[in-house]
Amino acid sequence: MAQEPMHHTGHETTQDVVVELQDAVLTITLNRSAKKNALTDAMYGTLAGAIERADSDAAVRVVLLRAEGDLFSAGNDLSDFSRLAEQIADRPASGITGQMNVWRFLHALAACTTPIVAAVQGKAVGVGTTMLLHADYVVLAEEAQLITPFVDLALVPEAASTLLLPQRIGHVRAFAMFALAEPMAAEDAVATGLANRVVPAEALQDTARQVAAALAAKPAGSLTATKRLMRDAEALGPVIEREVAVFTERLAGPEAREAFAAFAERRSPDFSPFS
Ligand code: COA
Repeated sequence: MAQEPMHHTGHETTQDVVVELQDAVLTITLNRSAKKNALTDAMYGTLAGAIERADSDAAVRVVLLRAEGDLFSAGNDLSDFSRLAEQIADRPASGITGQMNVWRFLHALAACTTPIVAAVQGKAVGVGTTMLLHADYVVLAEEAQLITPFVDLALVPEAASTLLLPQRIGHVRAFAMFALAEPMAAEDAVATGLANRVVPAEALQDTARQVAAALAAKPAGSLTATKRLMRDAEALGPVIEREVAVFTERLAGPEAREAFAAFAERRSPDFSPFS
């Protein structure tokens, strides 16, 4: 997929991620609903550019992250992962992971001082959930579920979630989400501090837009300064790097490749041959 260059006015549209600026709100829409908004490297590139722009373009006062379709995101595109795993296994010293847009996106997200509002319907899987830890106001539809099946894929969590999720909801609940892929229901997400509000699905987009508009009317310097004080962005970069190193090692391993093959073949993975 070709990437549009990021301009500083008006609309930028790529096929799978749509970025629009209106009334000081930069709306980022995941728009690959036929594949459940699974995120490809090109999509991460657009996402990274949009988040970077939010902090550098004074016309942007708030980011609104939303998705088309019945679910927020199925997480990383598993065929992308599978392809990457082969490449790393073939050429371990190629440094290929260093060029991946996902890490650029995650670093931009962790460093972002512009307030981020997120609207989530259906499932948010993997990075679909961990990116929400970097949002500042999260609205969930009633049936929304947060799911982080990293261990089921023989991977490890990313996006500084190994620090942020236990910090937010406590170690044992975070462990159950990571290790057993226990889904977090919308009401529980509010109760545990992962989200602000649960609303009926039909009210989701309007509610999130209203929150974004309310934030856009606040003094922007005060908002970004508040966010900067609340978040320890400097501490998160090294956590992301630490996760990347382990993640990459796991990605190229035989268990992850079995997990990706199982997803592609629509069967359960068999991890028993691996010690
Ligand atoms: N990567 C690549 N493609 C994906 C995908 C992913 N993460 N998630 C879904 N898709 C694709 C499916 O392969 C399918 O493609 P096809 O129509 O060409 O066959 C299409 O999206 C629809 O998915 P399907 O599984 O039929 O939809 P569903 O509503 O039954 O289930 C999910 C939705 C999200 C629960 C399910 O697709 C899923 O579990 N996906 C994998 C999630 C995951 O493990 N992500 C990685 C986290 S680190």
